[in-house]
Amino acid sequence: MHRVLHLSDTHVSRTGPDEDGVDGLAALQALLHDVRHVPDLDLVVVSGDVADDGSAEGCAKVRIVVGEFAAERGIPHVYCTGNHDRRDGFAAALGSGHLGPDGSPIGRPAGLDGVIAAVSEVAGLRVITLDSLVPGETYGVLSRDQLNWLATELSAPAPAGSIVVLHHPPIWVDAVPYLRSVVLQEPEELAHVLAGSDVHAVLSGHLHHQLSGQTGEKPVWVTPGVITRIDLTAPPALVRGVLGAGATVADLGGRFGPTFHTLHARDPHAGSQVYVYDPLTGEDASE
Ligand SMILES: [Fe+2]
Repeated sequence: MHRVLHLSDTHVSRTGPDEDGVDGLAALQALLHDVRHVPDLDLVVVSGDVADDGSAEGCAKVRIVVGEFAAERGIPHVYCTGNHDRRDGFAAALGSGHLGPDGSPIGRPAGLDGVIAAVSEVAGLRVITLDSLVPGETYGVLSRDQLNWLATELSAPAPAGSIVVLHHPPIWVDAVPYLRSVVLQEPEELAHVLAGSDVHAVLSGHLHHQLSGQTGEKPVWVTPGVITRIDLTAPPALVRGVLGAGATVADLGGRFGPTFHTLHARDPHAGSQVYVYDPLTGEDASE
């Protein structure tokens, strides 16, 4: 049984706040303070959009805060790229994205040109990060060679099974029209590679709201965002972001696993609107 604290979308920039003026670092610090009583964690995962501006400085700020939380517990912390990240900035601050409790690198990079995919093992659990970043685009793609590498990694089982971490979810909600165009493209390719493997679950972010589903036979979990929450009470043609940092505790294995439960920062401003816009035109839709 492994217990993972799953964070995503910290969106910290070189100067601090993101492009909407929200301070992701403060949100992260408040969230980690509020989740401090969660027991028995084995691992912290951050599934992308670490830096809002793609900078190494933004990634380094997140690494320091998450790294302190992990060091206090003696557990590793693992990161993957998101659409806001830049591979050079990410690698400069986080290397392959797999860091031990003391911040030392524990990942084995995939060694593929142009992507930051890697694998590590945490108390028998195989942790695989994929890189679905397409520079300049909101959607995600996994290249054929990355999928082939994943298939090779999964060809033999790990002692306690595996998790796959990537920014762009391979699932969406049909009733929310813009979602399909921003998630992982050709998700069935990933489902095909995962079929029959020892993968407990796919952990993703990007949507800034929680969502569960399946890709083929495998559970997929999308954790809420750290910096903001996308509020699906908005009309389905609009995107409304509100304050309120969230995280997930994923319990793998055990009687009911994988189970996922969300934790919310105790933020008196949670729910306050940050932006509302039309994703087709990009125009502000606030009244
Ligand atoms: Fe994203």
